[in-house]
Amino acid sequence: MKIITLNSEIEIGKAVGDRFCALLQKKSAAVLGLATGASPLPTYQHMISRFKAGDVSFAKAHTFNLDEYCDLPAAHSQSYRSFMHAQLFSQVDINPENTHFLDGNAANEALECSRFDALIEHLGGVDLQLLGIGRNGHIGFNEPAETFSQGSYKVKLAPSTLEANSGYFEGEHMPTHALTMGVGAILRAKEIVMVATGAAKAEAVKAMIQGENTPQLPASALQNHPNVTIYLDPAAASLL
Ligand code: F6R
Repeated sequence: MKIITLNSEIEIGKAVGDRFCALLQKKSAAVLGLATGASPLPTYQHMISRFKAGDVSFAKAHTFNLDEYCDLPAAHSQSYRSFMHAQLFSQVDINPENTHFLDGNAANEALECSRFDALIEHLGGVDLQLLGIGRNGHIGFNEPAETFSQGSYKVKLAPSTLEANSGYFEGEHMPTHALTMGVGAILRAKEIVMVATGAAKAEAVKAMIQGENTPQLPASALQNHPNVTIYLDPAAASLL
């Protein structure tokens, strides 16, 4: 694991956004693994400004998002599809048909998970995967568990995740389940970048980097990946 501590989330967004742009400049049809939440926002902002400057095109890229809520209409403002549209896709030249999500409303969830995993493989696998980390060490929506998950599957969200994300729903009922890429599938990405900022992530960051490799702290699985860079701000790095 390579650890890089930068002064602010804006600096992290520039560094990580530049990595995505460099990949697209080298490989226009790259497969990008994307995340939602607060951590990737400065990265997406930087990618948008590089696109507007004419430095990079997303026209041939494919994207796969890590996760999606179950039982939430795709058009709901808090669906991850809506989030990605608002925060990135509507502001760059990506082909909407090339943006891939797990369908949290699928009638047959197991079939939907297999479809998604097979499509990633069919397109040659994820070239660069962006991750955030939950306060409980989750990646994607892989919550602490007895074993590391492999392919995509349905997960019950942990109490700390419900607490962290319920604010986005502004008093509305928040989904309790999600479909997520598994840890094994995340580890198949050729290259992984994680962004963690703020003191609330410090304990999970320390456990991920310096702790035991255990499914109780899903992000610790990244210790086994040959090409991971963790971008931290001083608060997230404060316990290392
Ligand atoms: C979101 C995702 C989650 C988040 C994590 C951190 O697609 O996969 O693992 O990355 O919950 O969320 P933020 O960045 O909001 O602190």
